[in-house]
Amino acid sequence: MKILGIETSCDETGAAVVDDGWLVRSNIVASSLKDHQQYGGIIPEIASRRQLELIHYVVCEALSKAKMSLPDVDCIAVTRKPGLIGSLLVGISFARALSYSLGKPLVDVDHIKAHIYANFLRLESEKGVPLPRLPAIGLVVSGGHSSLYHVRDYDRFDLLGQTRDDAVGEAFDKVARILDLGYPGGPVIDRLAKQGINQELRFPRAAMPNSYDFSFSGVKTAVYNYVNKHKSASGFDPAKVAYSFQESVVDVLVDKSLLACQRRGIESLLIGGGVAANSTLRQRMFERAKSVGVQVYFPAMSFCLDNAAMIAGLGYRLFSKQRRKE
Ligand code: KG4
Ligand code: ZN
Repeated sequence: MKILGIETSCDETGAAVVDDGWLVRSNIVASSLKDHQQYGGIIPEIASRRQLELIHYVVCEALSKAKMSLPDVDCIAVTRKPGLIGSLLVGISFARALSYSLGKPLVDVDHIKAHIYANFLRLESEKGVPLPRLPAIGLVVSGGHSSLYHVRDYDRFDLLGQTRDDAVGEAFDKVARILDLGYPGGPVIDRLAKQGINQELRFPRAAMPNSYDFSFSGVKTAVYNYVNKHKSASGFDPAKVAYSFQESVVDVLVDKSLLACQRRGIESLLIGGGVAANSTLRQRMFERAKSVGVQVYFPAMSFCLDNAAMIAGLGYRLFSKQRRKE
């Protein structure tokens, strides 16, 4: 069954075709990031206007890459929430119009659950690669969310903990801003940190024992204070700051995720969201998970950031469930 996925929750305009919930036939993402960079963050009005211009082309490209035309689509899946309201509206309106005019079913997909579902996607060349088992612990780390879940089924999540202030990606973006590294901050800090390995600079970790909640505003403020204190006097090394900030964040994410696995007796851990692209998080999580017998999964890089393949994939599961009930 071929599902056309549409994703427009933030600055991206995405369309993808996924077969039977796992085989990605095409995955097109057009970003308006360049239009926002001069402002240091996403401007919702600019994002939705660009999406309105792009969506038609992106959907056509996704179909053509999958060697399909509109009548071959069995079902349309679209991001329903959460996201920027104007941006969501573009994708939802487009998907509804397509569904109505083609007479094909439409399913609404939750963006956060789809980030976890990205672990179940495979390319043609990865056909034999085993899929994760459920139940699992799910960690979503993106620009807007940092949450830990007990994932009982593809769409049945129990929330264990979430950030009390900044999301992880937001903390990366804000620290990059303090260091004058541009937007988005995650990929730059990831790269720069590799040149700043040190032991002397240590930023706080909000452990919050007995809770699966996170807090990242303290480490961000600590970076801000450190930079302000040192910039005029002795100076500072941005690479070292990037490294120590990243260490602080990664430590907490790894500790809490593995603790949840151990306490709940769950052996698989699924990570998703833009920050799942972070190389240190990936490496540290694999090392530590191995030492405690937990199997950890990260999506392929192109499925970590916002994309429509994850929407089409989860859309298939929701559609199949709906049909079983009928
Ligand atoms: O999931 P996503 O594409 O959008 C949201 O749903 O928010 O995540 C975007 C976030 C941004 O904050 C960006 O800085 C962060 O993911 N990010 C990274 C990396 N690549 C993207 N953070 C850390 N390391 C990276 N390599
Ligand atoms: Zn996202």
